[in-house]
Amino acid sequence: MSDSKAAAIVLAAGKGTRMKSALPKTLHRIGGRPMIGHVLDRLAETGVDRVAVVIGAGAEAVAAAVAPVPTVVQDPPLGTAHAVLAAREFLAGFDGDVLVLFGDTPLLTADTIRHMLEMLRSPAGPAVVVLGFRPDDTAEYGRLVTDADGRLLAIVEHRDADGDTRRIGFCNAGIMAADGRHLLSLLDEVGNDNAKGEYSITDIVAIARSRGLDCAVTEAADADEVMGVNARSELAVAERVLQQRLRARAMADGATLIDPDSVWFCHDTRLGRDVVIGPQVVFGPGVTVGDGVTIEAFCHIEGAGIADHAAIGPFARLRPGARIGDRARVGNFVEIKASSLGADAKVNHLSYVGDSRVGAGANIGAGTITCNYDGFDKAETEIGAGAFIGSNTALVAPVTIGAGAIVGAGSAIARDVPPGALAVARGAQTVKAGWAEDFRVRRRTAKPRSES
Ligand code: UD1
Ligand code: MG
Repeated sequence: MSDSKAAAIVLAAGKGTRMKSALPKTLHRIGGRPMIGHVLDRLAETGVDRVAVVIGAGAEAVAAAVAPVPTVVQDPPLGTAHAVLAAREFLAGFDGDVLVLFGDTPLLTADTIRHMLEMLRSPAGPAVVVLGFRPDDTAEYGRLVTDADGRLLAIVEHRDADGDTRRIGFCNAGIMAADGRHLLSLLDEVGNDNAKGEYSITDIVAIARSRGLDCAVTEAADADEVMGVNARSELAVAERVLQQRLRARAMADGATLIDPDSVWFCHDTRLGRDVVIGPQVVFGPGVTVGDGVTIEAFCHIEGAGIADHAAIGPFARLRPGARIGDRARVGNFVEIKASSLGADAKVNHLSYVGDSRVGAGANIGAGTITCNYDGFDKAETEIGAGAFIGSNTALVAPVTIGAGAIVGAGSAIARDVPPGALAVARGAQTVKAGWAEDFRVRRRTAKPRSES
């Protein structure tokens, strides 16, 4: 659904000093995605596709991360009203609804955004809709001053509030929706005569009221949804809240998590039906899991596709480009990178498979290594369907093992093996009958060595 009558400005020009980081604050990740990416994803879900991000001077990394969403630079940052006005050209002539969101408030839901837009479009037609919440600790938040009917009269920043106002528990989450026909002129009237000396968007509420325009407030479903991340400790809290959501969604969609609290998902993890995930499993970005897959304890999986009914782990590592076929098995201490395993293939123990194609039903013995790197370039290994690779084999790429071939255990294979052949590449075995017993007799009867 495209909502062409709404635009959004995402503010991300603040310095983020409390993160103590070389990385701009909104690029710190939760669920494997930069915080600002979560905000943009929610806007996209809502159908708001006319979006601009306000960044600080020199924040090219933020611009690159949000591309193709356009950015405007606010330099210097003089407050949240000033920040929205940095996007004046972007908003010029737009008479739809305008959302203002913060790039460091990543847990906001699409439902809340939709609800705010609906309120703005209601017959009562407020000029501004503000999102409120009731935090345990109100210390740094703006207070929402309402009349007896619950209508919003003003937002007063903590620093500017008197004792009575500070006792108000209902606070400004920072997210607003405003009628685009009024927003720029309301912002133009904002001054900076306040404790922080900033041009604050919060002032538009009192200005709108003075013009006889109505302002409404809605309360966030829970306070977590609007938590702002300003420091690493809050980043960790936001990560935990997001993980709880992702775990709940996985279970609601038909996955069994044996110990939900120890499974770490990425924002984009896709699970099929009847997936069973053991304790201590970590998903990085770009993982798709088919139906009926089992992932046992202690696996790390990133950039991988796992087809139906495959079995992974325990203790397996799937790296980007791993494609695991139907019913294939990847066992303990196996690492797979940029490789495909065909249906029913098995790599059950202690192996590294990189830059390889493994055919259906092939069996890769314990301790097999594809030697894919010569210090300069990567090379590929091809293992045909039904091939059997004996334990402790080194496959020196580029190399092809034909379908149905057998490689003897302990081989170092540097030349292609034709289909159906046996290849053995190891030192010939020497057997000397009785040698061991003779050796022991010799040693027992030998003169002791002198100590000197
Ligand atoms: C703001 C609100 C406060 C609310 C709180 C909720 C104002 C004046 N105050 O306070 O009422 O309770 O959020 O978390 O809006 N930014 C810019 N340019 C600037 C200043 C800020 O882009 O010149 C961006 C920041 O990057 C950040 C957001 O705006 O994403 C909020 O700024 P911040 O300084 O954190 O506002 P708070 O003091 O938290
Ligand atoms: Mg803040």
